[in-house]
Amino acid sequence: MLDSILYPTDFSDCSTKAFEYVKALCRSKISKKVVMLHVVNRKRVESMAQGVAWFGETALEFEKEFKERLTREAEEKLEKLAEELRQCTDVKTLVEYGNPVKLILKTAEEENVSVIVIGSHGRSNFEEVLLGSVSEEVVRKAKVPVLVVKRDMRDVKTD
Ligand SMILES: Nc1ncnc2c1ncn2[C@@H]1O[C@H](COP(=O)(O)OP(=O)(O)OP(=O)(O)O)[C@@H](O)[C@H]1O
Ligand SMILES: [Mg+2]
Repeated sequence: MLDSILYPTDFSDCSTKAFEYVKALCRSKISKKVVMLHVVNRKRVESMAQGVAWFGETALEFEKEFKERLTREAEEKLEKLAEELRQCTDVKTLVEYGNPVKLILKTAEEENVSVIVIGSHGRSNFEEVLLGSVSEEVVRKAKVPVLVVKRDMRDVKTD
């Protein structure tokens, strides 16, 4: 019996595919609870803020607004996904701000999850990369088993 599942998502094609496995595990009543997590990447927001600082707005103002917008959007997307699970399991949704790997690992410990279900790739989805940097570090450092759902090769970027 898996007590609870951590499903970290960046809303990419591959993490959407991983969600199908989360749903299947819940439907088969293997787990009691799913924690769904999106991390708004602080580094990404800060580097965008540095870029727009030239256009009048201060970097700090931009960072705050951009972070709030991404957080709101992520909350809405997570809520939609959570609805699909609520018939079969308890669901908790979390949107955090910071380093995705650190926050995925921290959440896994704090929520005492039994397994992490993650995509092999995310938004970058580069063809030649075996595992994205987030999934690779999570596999290396997590203390619980990690179910890595492989990408669909049709979604791969080939530029
Ligand atoms: N910000 C995030 N919040 C929650 N989960 C994430 C986040 N980023 C990635 N993940 C999870 O990790 C999986 C792999 O994504 P990852 O970012 O490692 O690949 P990538 O975007 O293709 O490569 P990279 O980010 O190294 O350029 C995703 O499918 C998702 O499950
Ligand atoms: Mg990524």
